[in-house]
Amino acid sequence: MKTKGYSLMERSVPHYNLAREKLNSIGVQMGEKYGWGIGNKWSILLSQLWMVMALEGDSFEDKMVLDLGCGCTEQIGEEHSAIYGYDYEPWLCRTMNELGMGHLGIDIGGNAAERFNFHQADLRDPSVLDFIPDHSVDVAHAGQFFNSPYLIKHLGCHENLREKLMPQLERIVKPEGFFLFGRY
Ligand SMILES: C[S@@+](CC[C@H](N)C(=O)[O-])C[C@H]1O[C@@H](n2cnc3c(N)ncnc32)[C@H](O)[C@@H]1O
Repeated sequence: MKTKGYSLMERSVPHYNLAREKLNSIGVQMGEKYGWGIGNKWSILLSQLWMVMALEGDSFEDKMVLDLGCGCTEQIGEEHSAIYGYDYEPWLCRTMNELGMGHLGIDIGGNAAERFNFHQADLRDPSVLDFIPDHSVDVAHAGQFFNSPYLIKHLGCHENLREKLMPQLERIVKPEGFFLFGRY
């Protein structure tokens, strides 16, 4: 598994164009289905889709992307709601689902009314990824997750969780696959 931060990635113009074209082709449909809050998230979503597609290479339909802290529509308590409000809906997973990309989102908050592949769990649990087979993931993605205010408050240090997740990610991500993390 190779580790990549968004800022360390070479910016691939063909994949940017592909991600933009794909997102434009489903944008209206996504707005009608999930609400026009997508407008506020467009540039972050485009950036995340671009980075994921760049790592997937030429075909994305047969790849598997695991989105850690993917976003949620149901918060788990008052504190969680107070921190996240409705600003962090699972736009990347919704998009990958609409585009037919292999994906699985994991979040501590709920997504009961959503149609994408989702597993509700606390990523601080050291066995949280045990249900995922060895070397089955092409890209493990964490967008705006390790700087999550909820995590920083409860763990004190987000780097701590990234390090703790590494052995689990090494097991499930393919040797030629990637762990991609972003920080906005
Ligand atoms: C800042 S939001 C980012 C959402 C999405 N990835 C995006 O880029 O818009 C962080 C997400 O991490 C989730 N989260 C926080 N702590 C978590 C934990 N311990 N386990 C799983 N998910 C968690 C929150 O519920 C929230 O949806």
